[in-house]
Amino acid sequence: MNKYDKNSGPSHLALGVNAEDLPLPRNASGWQPKVFVKTFGCQMNKYDSEILMGMLRSRGFAITEDLELADIALFNTCSVREHAETRVWGQVGMLSKIKNQKSKIKIIGVIGCMAQAHKEKIFDKLPHVDLVCGPQNIYNIPDYLEDIAKNNKKILAVDERERPVDRENFSFRDKTKDTTAYVTIMEGCNNFCSYCIVPYVRGREKSRPAEFIIKEIEELLKKGIKEITLLGQNVNSYGKDFKNGCSFIDLLNDIDKITNLKRLRFLTSHPKDAEVKMFKAISKLPTVCENLHLPIQSGSNRILKAMNRKYTREDYLRKVDVLKKLVPNCSLNTDIIVGFPDETDEDFMQTVDILKQVKFDTAYIFKYSPRPYTQAAKFEDNIPQKIKEERNQELLRLQKEIAFFNNQKLVNKRVGVLVEKVSKKDEDYLIGRTRTDKMIIFKGPVDLIGKIVEVEIKNASVSGLGGEWIGP
Ligand code: 5AD
Ligand code: SF4
Repeated sequence: MNKYDKNSGPSHLALGVNAEDLPLPRNASGWQPKVFVKTFGCQMNKYDSEILMGMLRSRGFAITEDLELADIALFNTCSVREHAETRVWGQVGMLSKIKNQKSKIKIIGVIGCMAQAHKEKIFDKLPHVDLVCGPQNIYNIPDYLEDIAKNNKKILAVDERERPVDRENFSFRDKTKDTTAYVTIMEGCNNFCSYCIVPYVRGREKSRPAEFIIKEIEELLKKGIKEITLLGQNVNSYGKDFKNGCSFIDLLNDIDKITNLKRLRFLTSHPKDAEVKMFKAISKLPTVCENLHLPIQSGSNRILKAMNRKYTREDYLRKVDVLKKLVPNCSLNTDIIVGFPDETDEDFMQTVDILKQVKFDTAYIFKYSPRPYTQAAKFEDNIPQKIKEERNQELLRLQKEIAFFNNQKLVNKRVGVLVEKVSKKDEDYLIGRTRTDKMIIFKGPVDLIGKIVEVEIKNASVSGLGGEWIGP
């Protein structure tokens, strides 16, 4: 264990409240503490938080969405960009100030990627935090919380233990209101792109055994889920660590056969590993949707090399060509970083050019920020903030035009839509998504939620589509 555990915690780290005042789970003391969980960052963090809340519920804790009612507040954090971290330091800092005074909060936890990145420094910076727990240890959080409550101490859990396989009990995952769900198939990353903190916080690539993934999907389908998105930092590496020959494409084939599954998606593919076999799977397997997230990061070969991406713009364009031939209607999303160290106007223009050529459906554009542990953090962060901002704005402007152009081309077409929810703006309207992952809004009765219906596209904007329900 570690220096903050039972019997070894330094006294200045004590909680400063009587252990008897602290909440214990109902099954231990008859009293049920309420836990508030706030999630930052990627889909995998959302998935982790869902599993965590299910585990907490099954152990007698209650979940609340209202921080003011909570006894315990957990922040599942992201480290991928500096901005994500700044928000957490601010929000946890504010809560720490009122702990033990104005708020009923007894335990504050910083969990997930920031916990792994900053470890005990979080206790130094935010002395009212009681739990710091990295992504590999989150399955032990119910135990940690009971321990903290009973023994009035702090816990640091960042020992990067592999996630236990016996966590594979999902019956408690609360998905009754949803039609779509995430399922993690592998996590961690072996690529070491020079800007990226992920390999340092999520560790090396680890795949989940296929039988657990399939069982989890079957459980979700029983609860009414229709669409599954498989998650991994690098899904194409799935199975490489098993050395039994099982590949990502095998997994897609197996999942596709599951009865009642309507739609299957996956995130994220590394362009160096995106191969014809995968494009063929998108084209052939009935459940696999025509949508791919393929982050290019930069259009300049010089910058791609400095990023350690292991492909060129020509490689990328060639792969997109093959994809478009095999899956003509496939939509394509990407990530781009502007202002990487030494990025010249010429490099940036290469990125502008690639956006114009590929005409991505969605491009997530980020301003570079140096991250701890990474190779690029050793380079000078020499692009002024003002230039990063200008480049960011220019790409956002261009991408808006492209998205509008792409969406306009869909007007008058008929598409299958999985209906997800009622519109917040007008309850006569429903919101769903096409197989190509476009949001669409149309008038229809509530009982269409969870069904796949035919909709004719009537109008299009930068962010989505409007249509008319045709049937069934
Ligand atoms: N600075 C800016 N953006 C980053 N990303 C990852 N690391 C950084 C960084 N240091 C972006 C990449 C990645 C997405 C999840 O976040 O575009 O694909
Ligand atoms: Fe953020 Fe990456 Fe961690 Fe997801 S895996 S929460 S993107 S740092």
